[in-house]
Amino acid sequence: MNGDDAIQALRAGRLVVIPTETVYGLAADATLPDAVAEIFRLKGRPAENPLIAHFASVGDIDEFAETDSEYFLPLVTAFWPGPLTLVLPYRGGLAPQVTAGLATLAVRIPAVEVTRAIIAGVGHPLAAPSANPFMRLSPTRAEDVGGSIVSGSAGVVDGGPCAVGLESTIIDLTREVPTLLRLGMVSATEIAKVLGVQVDERKPDEVISAPGQYLRHYSPKTPLNLVHKLGDQPGIGFGRAGNHQVQMPEDPVRYARDLYASLAKLDQLGLDAIYVESVPDDPSWGAIRDRLSRATNQG
Ligand code: TXA
Ligand code: MG
Repeated sequence: MNGDDAIQALRAGRLVVIPTETVYGLAADATLPDAVAEIFRLKGRPAENPLIAHFASVGDIDEFAETDSEYFLPLVTAFWPGPLTLVLPYRGGLAPQVTAGLATLAVRIPAVEVTRAIIAGVGHPLAAPSANPFMRLSPTRAEDVGGSIVSGSAGVVDGGPCAVGLESTIIDLTREVPTLLRLGMVSATEIAKVLGVQVDERKPDEVISAPGQYLRHYSPKTPLNLVHKLGDQPGIGFGRAGNHQVQMPEDPVRYARDLYASLAKLDQLGLDAIYVESVPDDPSWGAIRDRLSRATNQG
């Protein structure tokens, strides 16, 4: 469906799958409680897991969240529109399910132009989680959006393959020290450089304040195993691809962009297992290692 159709559908309270530079999102007008409730139902997402509100421009955020953190503008200037989500003190004004009762709101401005035009056309922020059923791979191509999500929504806006390919980095600006809640392709080091302060990292065993950070997450249906080196098993690795194998880029930015689409391709083959060759230890691979370890944690 095109942008104008998407605007009409969203205004009528329907769900639409929208492209972003990270992953495709399952969007609803964030001010409409029934529409937002339908996101949770269609994804099978627990109600205690809040959603990110997507905006078209920075000036629109202030109505719903406090933007007076000293860290807000530097981050906005450096990274928006782009794959960074900021958690801010919530003022109110959105459907209650968006924040799952928290006193904070997660906000971001996506880099895909048609999506910002859709948000501006609707005239309200869009609540949008990744467009995957709960605990499954996030789609990074329109054709990877699952059948249940397609049939439960008004349509998919095809923006081509996502340029980043992993979910946004989330930074909580409501604590004394800016705190990393989810690592994406914007790194803690880049953020610290912009802010001139170190960023705290949430310990995995700390009480969950990004409630979506379940250990097992982002997995294909087929069990995923990490291996040091890919032999002739089906999977993804760095060597020349054999049967049921994908040769991945050696550069982390391109690897991130291709990861979910490559796993989705193998996931469709009905294999007993998919093997993933381990990736470099360098910090630039941090978000990739995070997603791979979540996808392989079957606990
Ligand atoms: O790249 C992305 O962020 C994609 C695209 C579509 O924008 N969206 C995405 O949404 O990954 P989702 O719902 O799959 O992940 C959002 C994460 C969840 O872990 C959720 O718990 C966390 O953001 N979150 C949302 N609101 C929050 C809040 N107020 N405080 C802390 N964490 C929050
Ligand atoms: Mg998700």
